[in-house]
Amino acid sequence: MKCYRLVDVGRREFLRGGLFGAAGAAAATVMPAASARAEGLARVSYPSNRLANIADLKVDEPVEIAYPDPDSPGVLLKLGKAVPGGVGPDGDIVAFSILCPHKGWLLTYNAGDRTLNCPGHYSRFDCEAGGQQTWGHATQNLPQFELRIDAQGDIYAEGVDELIYGRLSNVL
Ligand code: FES
Repeated sequence: MKCYRLVDVGRREFLRGGLFGAAGAAAATVMPAASARAEGLARVSYPSNRLANIADLKVDEPVEIAYPDPDSPGVLLKLGKAVPGGVGPDGDIVAFSILCPHKGWLLTYNAGDRTLNCPGHYSRFDCEAGGQQTWGHATQNLPQFELRIDAQGDIYAEGVDELIYGRLSNVL
């Protein structure tokens, strides 16, 4: 008798699962439309924000910045040699988010090997290679800010190449 009750419970659970399964299947059928809408929302318009002037920069002396808004800290660097994404007369000026892509700890710059380093779980990112991760727990490279320099030497950030930590979109 006891066994039969357990069988009944099992049947009820199975049926409940079946209903959820049917609901899941129904949800799956509407997914394409939902994801198409999400794709549209993922396109963002980046602001053009002045960060500094070329005259403010010295090789290996990081300048604190924020982009695309005050809640997204970053760093502006002059590396002294041409690098990917580098702008300016020497192609050596770059900017990165300093929020670690792993869990958002603040990165610090090491001029010795031109890396940004995480004190949380020791991820390292190469500033001479577009923010490529070279070690650690993070699962993406460091977001690099796209820069433009005008005729007066003013440096503007105008885009980001990876998702900034903690965001569903780079622009709030
Ligand atoms: Fe940077 Fe974990 S928060 S490696």
